[in-house]
Amino acid sequence: MNKPTANILEIVDPQDLSPIQAQIENRLSSLIPSDQTWPVKLHAAQRHALLSPGKRFRPLLCVLIAQGATQDITKRRAAIDVGCAAEMVHAASLILDDLPCMDDAALRRNSPTTHIAFDESTAILSATALLNRAFGVLARLRDIDPAIRIALVDLLSYSVGSTGLIAGQMADLANGDTQASLQDVEQLNRLKTGALFEFTIYSAAILTELSVGQKEDLKDFAFNLGLGFQLLDDLKDSFMDDAQAEKSVGRDEGKATILALLGTKDSKQTLKTYLISAKGALHRAGLQNSSLLEAVIDRQFAFLNEV
Ligand code: IPE
Ligand code: IPE
Ligand code: MG
Ligand code: MG
Ligand code: MG
Repeated sequence: MNKPTANILEIVDPQDLSPIQAQIENRLSSLIPSDQTWPVKLHAAQRHALLSPGKRFRPLLCVLIAQGATQDITKRRAAIDVGCAAEMVHAASLILDDLPCMDDAALRRNSPTTHIAFDESTAILSATALLNRAFGVLARLRDIDPAIRIALVDLLSYSVGSTGLIAGQMADLANGDTQASLQDVEQLNRLKTGALFEFTIYSAAILTELSVGQKEDLKDFAFNLGLGFQLLDDLKDSFMDDAQAEKSVGRDEGKATILALLGTKDSKQTLKTYLISAKGALHRAGLQNSSLLEAVIDRQFAFLNEV
């Protein structure tokens, strides 16, 4: 095992999250084998998918929530690894989502998708390996009570499993063949995207041992943020080209998305409502850095002002 990063920097400037971003990048890189490790093609593909420049929104949320919840340096340090585990699952889900049998996408984070840069079987095995590694990262969190580590492993297994993210992806693949209602699409979005946000945010609450009430508030925060994030992604899919989105867009054409059901104006309003609910719940949780978290969220959703 590589040594965890020693110092956790306080984030005071929402315009400059680069110190924490750098810690996340370093940790992601050290948590999976080098591309010199046999089988080199498999590890090169995993590194391609995981380390290509994504926004790292999930690990950032996990780390910032832990910072707002506790001064305990051990728990703050562990939150980096928990966020990295979420990012591994996210990267795995993107590898699979881009496959020809799913969204059949060629571009991801401005690079060829993993099955194009390598091949389909390597892509599938890389996704499986990243998923597998995420559980190991949680199991090994340094100096964290074993009961908490078990709770996190359990939570991830439910969040990603066949009643969580994977269920959402399954429903998304069937979407288009059915006449989905707005409620159906919300449920689909809650699973395919929201489930991992719920893990990311609730795991920080478990790790830092927040009160039952605060955990409920953060669950509500995650629920609305996840719904908002997928709707934002669908707006980008519709209003950006590949170069702007840095990924293949238009792959979800013909699907019943909230945007397709409501149109642009009402979708924007729905997204604003999700964000208001998310921020309300965040403030109720009473974290020390809720204003900073709000600024980070506003930055992620800035595109909303351009549509
Ligand atoms: C894209 O997620 C897929 C969705 C769940 C909407 P991100 O927008 O977080 O993608 P990266 O990680 O920045 O590439
Ligand atoms: C992806 O949804 C959700 C998961 C990968 C589970 P999308 O298919 O909309 O994501 P992008 O737009 O390809 O990133
Ligand atoms: Mg998809
Ligand atoms: Mg896709
Ligand atoms: Mg999309």
